[in-house]
Amino acid sequence: MADQDSRSGARYATPDIVAFVDGVHVRHDAGLARAFDAPAQHGMPAIQLAPAEGKTLTLLMRMIGACKVVEVGTLAGYSALRLAHGLSAGGHVWTIELDPRHAQVARDNLAAAGVADRVSVLVGPALEQLEQLTPHAPFDAVFIDADKGNYPLYARWAAAHLRTGGLLIGDNSYFFGQLLADTPDATHMREFHQLVAEAFDSTCIPTPDGLVVGIRR
Ligand SMILES: C[S@@+](CC[C@H](N)C(=O)[O-])C[C@H]1O[C@@H](n2cnc3c(N)ncnc32)[C@H](O)[C@@H]1O
Repeated sequence: MADQDSRSGARYATPDIVAFVDGVHVRHDAGLARAFDAPAQHGMPAIQLAPAEGKTLTLLMRMIGACKVVEVGTLAGYSALRLAHGLSAGGHVWTIELDPRHAQVARDNLAAAGVADRVSVLVGPALEQLEQLTPHAPFDAVFIDADKGNYPLYARWAAAHLRTGGLLIGDNSYFFGQLLADTPDATHMREFHQLVAEAFDSTCIPTPDGLVVGIRR
């Protein structure tokens, strides 16, 4: 019965249920709370991961023993902090942000959380910054959470620079409910799914906007 309900699209999560389980499983310490609240505090778009999605990143990093991690799309540093919390000893996160103001807020949050030595915030268009990172390859994980039209290019870069068994993670993979639309960016997002499925053993976790997770073949 439960399977039939999930196939029919039934949703059991209510805001109260999510608040309860987040309070049990994914509580924020002071550093996480500061990073999570920062977009609203600084007049930035509040488009960071949900707490449970952030904790998922931490657990995934721990599961693979991640040492070298790349993030595309920093905002205020919430997901970068979540990634940093899952690093193995001596590990490092490179996170890329186009907007220098976002990058500065993120740096402040990461310093306040005590991980400034483990996270580098790189400023500029991700495609340019990714090229600068290639000497550090191979990476253990790449998390994509920025401009959706470039997702196929980010996935290609990830496929070329992740180690075998490394993780690709991509947020907003339902493209805000427009994945099947007849628009250029929806087409790019569908291409992203195809590329990931070819180079990775992958799935799309049905978070509110779809979280692609793939293991590099
Ligand atoms: C959804 S937010 C990232 C949220 C963040 N991952 C989190 O969960 O805390 C997307 C960010 O990507 C940045 N961005 C957009 N296009 C970009 C590009 N071409 N290169 C680098 N960053 C970009 C935006 O400025 C924005 O801060």
